[in-house]
Amino acid sequence: MREKLVAVMSNKKKLFIKTYGCQMNVYDSERMAEALGTSGYDPVGTPEEADMILLNTCHIREKAAEKIYSELGRYRPLKDAKPDLKIGVAGCVAQAEGAEIMQRQPMVDLVVGPQTYHRLPEMMKQVDAGQKALDTDFPEEDKFDHLPKRDLPKRGPSAFLTVQEGCDKFCAFCVVPYTRGAEVSRSPGRILREAQDLVERGVREINLLGQNVNAYQNDDWGLTQLIWALNDIDGLERIRFTTSHPNDMTDDLIEAHGSCEKLMPYLHLPVQSGSDKVLKGMNRQHTAEQYIRLIERFRDARPDILISGDFIVGFPGEEDVDHQATMDLIREVNYGQAYSFKYSARPGTPAAERAFVAAEVADVRLQELQALITQQQRALQEAMVGQKVKVLIEKKGRLQGQMIGKSQHLHAVHVAEPAIGGALNIGDIYSVGIIKSETNSLGGEVIHT
Ligand code: SAH
Ligand code: SF4
Ligand code: F3S
Repeated sequence: MREKLVAVMSNKKKLFIKTYGCQMNVYDSERMAEALGTSGYDPVGTPEEADMILLNTCHIREKAAEKIYSELGRYRPLKDAKPDLKIGVAGCVAQAEGAEIMQRQPMVDLVVGPQTYHRLPEMMKQVDAGQKALDTDFPEEDKFDHLPKRDLPKRGPSAFLTVQEGCDKFCAFCVVPYTRGAEVSRSPGRILREAQDLVERGVREINLLGQNVNAYQNDDWGLTQLIWALNDIDGLERIRFTTSHPNDMTDDLIEAHGSCEKLMPYLHLPVQSGSDKVLKGMNRQHTAEQYIRLIERFRDARPDILISGDFIVGFPGEEDVDHQATMDLIREVNYGQAYSFKYSARPGTPAAERAFVAAEVADVRLQELQALITQQQRALQEAMVGQKVKVLIEKKGRLQGQMIGKSQHLHAVHVAEPAIGGALNIGDIYSVGIIKSETNSLGGEVIHT
């Protein structure tokens, strides 16, 4: 019996996936691991142990894309030591560069785009036969129809669930419409089944993902209908969604923030710039004023909502006055969180043809902007001290007797386990009194009620 078990185990091949980029890639990596599970692969935590290494890549900025080639270079000694080692590149660099990747780095065996990874088992047969495999189609069929059911046992309490993919907006700086294709929304029936399945496996919080998640539309279901249906699932405690676009915002979605119990008070709504001239150059199709009014409506519906955003500095044509307009918008909105980037010219996008802002100028603007955001973020965190928040426990902390979870506002909270009343359970929600604010987290103690 024992020998048989060992034999079975040694038949299993080992898969290491490294994920770059956005949350959708995190979701895709899980689904790719499941797809490759059917080809006999089990996930492992380091490339050294692996029979197959898969990089799930991001093309959004030049640095992100170039990182892939330096990472591949690092696998050279592994491949020399184990010539059977298979190396694959998935995700948005795969979609954008295709066969070029194999030309630049011949040890790559497989290149697969974000819309075709359900074909991985077939592609692996080709690779196992010693051939190269490349698939960057935008196929007619829906990959979700062909992926294995998500039947892994227990999992962590917070999960991503992709509901919408692709983008029709064509912001002048962005590669996503080219790497992810046109906007497509999955059927509500399938999404709800997947959500139910996740809940049965221990998930308490679902974060609905889409490149433009609030553009979700399938028959007469919009994102709001989906959220209300999820609200009815017993055992699911929290609903989040990301990333939204200002132009796809609907009245019912705004209202749901005031009335839907499980919908969390957090909104990630990128604006990119506070200057109408720059917004026009970016093809964002809205003004700074329209964005600010939208935020006001969310705050009317849910006064404590935490606003998060994305910003690009140094977009072609951005002058000092434009940058100041962005700073003014940030002061007006007051962000609890934001991601900010220096503009990176991406081949094939309209803005890449335009005259750049000098790198030194963009650097100074980025620092200024980040300093303001940090100040706002800190002030909002400080204001939580003395308040009671609900924390969904996700994992053990580094210190003995400490657990880490998320508040409704997505603040990471370090929670001290109570001296009496026993250990805290992962997946449970506790009332926590906040006693301190640190750089990127809050600290507190469980309040017994
Ligand atoms: N769909 C989302 C986010 C897409 S990418 C949206 O519309 O907002 C995530 C963020 O990366 C963007 O919001 C933008 O701030 C940044 N980004 C995209 N392309 C970029 C580029 N070429 N240079 C710098 N930052 C970029
Ligand atoms: Fe990119 Fe704009 Fe689409 Fe967002 S909305 S993914 S920034 S093109
Ligand atoms: Fe990057 Fe592709 Fe996401 S380019 S940000 S991984 S959609």
